[in-house]
Amino acid sequence: MNIEKLRSETPGCAHVIHFNNAGSALMPQAVIEAQQNYLNYEINQGGYEAVDHFRKQLNHTYQRVAQLINAQPQEIALLESATTAWVKAFFSLTFQPGDRIVTAKAEYATNYINYLHLAKTQQVDIEVIPNDESGQVSITALEKMLAEDQQKTIKLISITHIPTNGGLVNPAEEVGKLAKKYGVLYLLDACQSVGQMPIDVQKIGCDMLSATGRKYLRAPRGTGFLYVRESLLETLEPREVDMFAAEWTTTDTYELRQDARKFEYYEYNPANRMGLSAAVQYALELGLDNIWQRIQQLGDLLRKQLAEIPNVTVQDLGQVKGGIVSFGVKGIKTEFIKQKLREEGINVSLIVANGTLLDMQDRGLDHLVRASVHYYNTEKEIEQLCGVVKKIILVHTRIEHS
Ligand SMILES: Cc1ncc(COP(=O)(O)O)c(C=O)c1O
Repeated sequence: MNIEKLRSETPGCAHVIHFNNAGSALMPQAVIEAQQNYLNYEINQGGYEAVDHFRKQLNHTYQRVAQLINAQPQEIALLESATTAWVKAFFSLTFQPGDRIVTAKAEYATNYINYLHLAKTQQVDIEVIPNDESGQVSITALEKMLAEDQQKTIKLISITHIPTNGGLVNPAEEVGKLAKKYGVLYLLDACQSVGQMPIDVQKIGCDMLSATGRKYLRAPRGTGFLYVRESLLETLEPREVDMFAAEWTTTDTYELRQDARKFEYYEYNPANRMGLSAAVQYALELGLDNIWQRIQQLGDLLRKQLAEIPNVTVQDLGQVKGGIVSFGVKGIKTEFIKQKLREEGINVSLIVANGTLLDMQDRGLDHLVRASVHYYNTEKEIEQLCGVVKKIILVHTRIEHS
């Protein structure tokens, strides 16, 4: 990878040291221009006329997203966030009282809140797969749960691939093999993994997958997508539809679309979609294997350098680790660290316990700093980040002792 070239194609790199890629990454010029070109046309010619003019390119987004995850275009719905995608898929499933949803320790708050909502309103049960000794989902424990499910009450396996709060990469493929073996539906929250690592829905074996654009894909904010396996599509009916998702055929009837776009509405932000399309193309051209290799390399380097600083504890779990690095500094509030780093032009974000409550409680953690690397970060930036962390600790210790 030509990092200098990639950085020169990223205007933000000239202004900040960006370690908040798990929040929202810096957009490359190609993504910015795709949106600007579209907007220029829309400003001058009108909103609907712009859609007509760019229809081919807008539609091509489905192909590109499908290619990114090895799916078919008709299996893709383009939505405004990972949450919208996930919620739409989840609430199109039907459950009976006593059905079980199986999830993982590092589950994202929004997902878990919705399991709780269903537990309250439809009396489903939630089961959490224990972790193995490395901190990832225990495949042995999951197999045991499935094998012991004589009554076939486990209706859904729903896990997060890369959690929001650390470097862990859950073994999505192994989970998929078990889901297939036991005939259980499998929903994967790939919000942090799409764009960060190669994602192949055929290999993973998930039935549904949700993702966002603004994080590792480097697309604009307000973009995301849902994948639904074609064989499952016809059995699913979205909770609510509009006149795009369904056609009002006679006064008493409507007909749903056949493809995944039945999860969309008529109205969307086309300039954003152009940006998403450009971002996917950019990632495809770079190659997801190359991207993943570089991110893992930088992630490992950052973990190593942080771990060498006295009073810093790196908290990442798992056998395989990605670009999200979580750490705490003994005696110093995370908010203070974030603010001081920001003053030095370094962006990081914070992890709070109730974002991934089961996992954080299990580990007795409350707050952490999240420094998430992307391929365009450099070794020098990592040194700068660690240098500022050291300085913060030094100044803090001096103040404490004065
Ligand atoms: C693991 C995970 N899932 C889902 C989401 C929600 O994504 P969005 O804000 O695009 O809805 C996030 C956002 O941080 C996340 O980290």
